[in-house]
Amino acid sequence: MIVDAVVSGLALDSDDTLLDLCCGNGALSTLLFSRCRGGLGVDFSEALISIANSYFESPPEQAYILQDVVMFCENPTTPDKFTKILCYGSFPFIEHDRSELLLRLLKDNFANAENVFIGNCPDKEQMSRFYGDQPVERGIENDPASPIGIWRTEKEFVEMAERCGWQAEIHKMPEKYYAAHYRYDVILSR
Ligand SMILES: C[S@@+](CC[C@H](N)C(=O)[O-])C[C@H]1O[C@@H](n2cnc3c(N)ncnc32)[C@H](O)[C@@H]1O
Repeated sequence: MIVDAVVSGLALDSDDTLLDLCCGNGALSTLLFSRCRGGLGVDFSEALISIANSYFESPPEQAYILQDVVMFCENPTTPDKFTKILCYGSFPFIEHDRSELLLRLLKDNFANAENVFIGNCPDKEQMSRFYGDQPVERGIENDPASPIGIWRTEKEFVEMAERCGWQAEIHKMPEKYYAAHYRYDVILSR
């Protein structure tokens, strides 16, 4: 379901080269790289990038590098080759000011990237559906180091994207997706 959502959301095709930000162990990246020309995964977890490199590295179609994504986007190698960008299940773990910086860098430094898919964002309006009867720690929705990271309403996300120069569209996963009731995807376009 995730691969289908990303392929359709990005209109990913055989001419595209994908930049996968916060790619983790590459298990999702490799499925998407095989649906296009290939791409590059970036993550700052040494353990996860070493798994990605052991199992999936296959240059030039698939490469994985160990780096903080904001630092990578400040000074990217060969930025013009990327036509689509993905950040799945990870954007909430980036601090507020750095997430805005990241969106601006994607706009300014990746001129050929038409769309960005930011997947699996927790919806602040649905926090109570996620936590149910459990007590909720005060301020947890703004803590990128918490287990879910920063919660944003759809409106907050769209406004943030617009401040950074993007147009944003909210997409929902099919209901049978385990987290469909409290998460949404965002597709950015220029
Ligand atoms: C929940 S995992 C998602 C991994 C992958 N995108 C997937 O969907 O399978 C979150 C990932 O974000 C990475 N991450 C979080 N903040 C990062 C940053 N500032 N720079 C690079 N990687 C980051 C973590 O190391 C972790 O691999």
